[in-house]
Amino acid sequence: MNLEEQRRVRTQDFVRGLCLDEPTGHDWWHIDRVRILALRIGQQEGADLHLTEMAALLHDVDDHKFNPLGSNKAKTWLSTVEEPNIEQIIAIIESISFKGAGVTDMPMGIEGCCVQDADRLDAMGAIGIARAFAYGGHMGRLLFDPSRGPELHRDFQAYKSSQGHTINHFHEKLLLLKDRMHTSMGKQMAIKRHQFMVDFLDEFMDEWGAKQ
Ligand code: ADP
Ligand code: NI
Repeated sequence: MNLEEQRRVRTQDFVRGLCLDEPTGHDWWHIDRVRILALRIGQQEGADLHLTEMAALLHDVDDHKFNPLGSNKAKTWLSTVEEPNIEQIIAIIESISFKGAGVTDMPMGIEGCCVQDADRLDAMGAIGIARAFAYGGHMGRLLFDPSRGPELHRDFQAYKSSQGHTINHFHEKLLLLKDRMHTSMGKQMAIKRHQFMVDFLDEFMDEWGAKQ
């Protein structure tokens, strides 16, 4: 195993240990799906696959949702494994998180585009629906409240502090992702997953008797 491969394997074991039983859909299998998809997209896009995989593995360890006071786990880990591209990997991770419907995505290189598209695809479709309700349940959110409509947040602070029910999250984020994909494979894969969420919401409202 060369040095780069060793760093990837050690990083995989580190991240798996951190999030194995995470109950909100940000568990190890989310990281593993994002890694696999980011590499598939990255191969097609001619991205640097080491940077892509390292960023995919570490993309959620300092997430604001689980570290409200901020944290530096990715950077500390990258120096532990003596990764020479620390700044590049940290820049990719910092650019990819969704910050609100009205907040423009940060400019990013091709590796960031691959990891962000993979992360967004995992927030869509059947898995995306399952993850949204797992997250909502964990945070004590209602499934739906017909008296409270969605808000399109203009800044990250408003998005972060939103306490809305989970159906609102579809309108505030998940249904917007299809048009915010970067790569051609990402755009292609997003179409089916988007439609699945639209059909799900349609059926949900129909059963509720609250057809929109
Ligand atoms: P991002 O960095 O874009 O937020 P993540 O990998 O951290 O992406 O995952 C975000 C996922 O967490 C969402 O797709 C959704 O499943 C869940 N989530 C986040 N906020 C909410 C919310 N307010 N209601 C329901 N689910 C949420
Ligand atoms: Ni993620």
